[in-house]
Amino acid sequence: MRKSFWDYFYELKQKCPYDCVGIYLGLQPGLVVQSPDLARKVIVDSDCFPDRFTYSGSNGDPIGSLNLFASKGKLRKYLQQVYSPIFTTVRLKKLTQLMTVNGKDLTDKIQRDFVDNKKRVNLKELMAMYVSDTLAFSVFGIKLSVLKGEDSPLWHITKHITKCDFSRGFEIIVNFLHPESCKTFAVSSKNAQITLKLKDNMSENLMLAQTGTFIMASAETSSVALTYCLFELAYHQEEQEILYNEIEEALRKSGKDILEYNDFLELKYLTAVINETLRKSVPLQHLDRVPVRDYQLTDNITIEKGIPVLINVLALHHDERYFPEPNEWRPERFLTSSEYDNLHYSFIPFGEGHRACIGKRYGMLQLKIALSQIVHKFKIEPVMPYKLKSDPYSIVLAPIDGASVKFVPR
Ligand code: HEM
Repeated sequence: MRKSFWDYFYELKQKCPYDCVGIYLGLQPGLVVQSPDLARKVIVDSDCFPDRFTYSGSNGDPIGSLNLFASKGKLRKYLQQVYSPIFTTVRLKKLTQLMTVNGKDLTDKIQRDFVDNKKRVNLKELMAMYVSDTLAFSVFGIKLSVLKGEDSPLWHITKHITKCDFSRGFEIIVNFLHPESCKTFAVSSKNAQITLKLKDNMSENLMLAQTGTFIMASAETSSVALTYCLFELAYHQEEQEILYNEIEEALRKSGKDILEYNDFLELKYLTAVINETLRKSVPLQHLDRVPVRDYQLTDNITIEKGIPVLINVLALHHDERYFPEPNEWRPERFLTSSEYDNLHYSFIPFGEGHRACIGKRYGMLQLKIALSQIVHKFKIEPVMPYKLKSDPYSIVLAPIDGASVKFVPR
């Protein structure tokens, strides 16, 4: 916990620039995979690697054990059926209208707090508010908006989840890297569910766990992705103007003052801005899997049953062979590929295969709506040094102190 997961995985590739490298998680040996080809092998073999290493026990923690992220076996099959129709194109079209309302609340708050009242912007907190409101409104049907200053019950939960402190950091680290110890330390996801009351009823627990999954899986990742997109745009004025012109042109063509689902499909530069940010500053720096039997990875490496395999996504995204000068932020890299191309497994910010992110389309839409509205109304300018330090208590990438920019009305 002296350094973030993100920095750990980044430095591991620098120190050990091999296709795979052995590490210890406490006393537990594990294998870190760092090449697209080996990552693909592990990800596509759903028979041998059906599950994550992440905690999925059931020590009185229904939210932790019954959710899609951690579920296994029959429960997983059932949940997959439940989830599969959740983000269809028809649904996403409806959600676009709802999220557009949240986007307007976001730009109103920016104008009110940071332009008129000149408060300091905490980007991560602001973006977490937007993500919380979109979830509340689009997924749970709650119309109270924290962006409008209302007392949103979902914000109490999201705020808690996105807050990085020592005890939360400790719980998460135990949960992700040494799941068996959860029993010893009585770690559970209850910490994240401060306003929801558990009842001794299986179906209610199942429902509650899915609710928890939505909040936990989307709150951190989406707010961090938005934070880094805006931060990069502040330091790349030329790229920001290209993006502004693309949005302006799309609005002019549509003849309306808001963009709809189909309009977003045409905004190639916006998608490239998001993809390049998810490449350089990928929120979830590693994926984890565990084999259910011995697995022959290469001619001379066999992974024994039960040994955790961690895929170093950051190493793939920063591999000079696929992304020259990887620390440079260049949306142009993604202008010729399609939105969902994994570029031969060198670009997997949402994971891949049978355990890939189910919220990818929803998440991308959420990001596009916020970015298009902000960039259309405000010029984003830098106010602090470009290099951000990552928070050691966060499982996903998170800037210490939230990062800041200046919003100037256009
Ligand atoms: C920018 C936003 C997001 C990013 C970068 C992201 C990233 C990821 C990644 C890397 C995984 C692990 C994939 C794997 O192991 O192969 C994952 C899993 C998951 N994500 Fe997301 N996610 C995002 C938004 C969302 C949203 C908005 C939701 C829900 C509405 C969501 C729900 C889930 C769920 C349920 C899983 C577990 C899937 C399974 O195990 O079957 N995510 N996400």
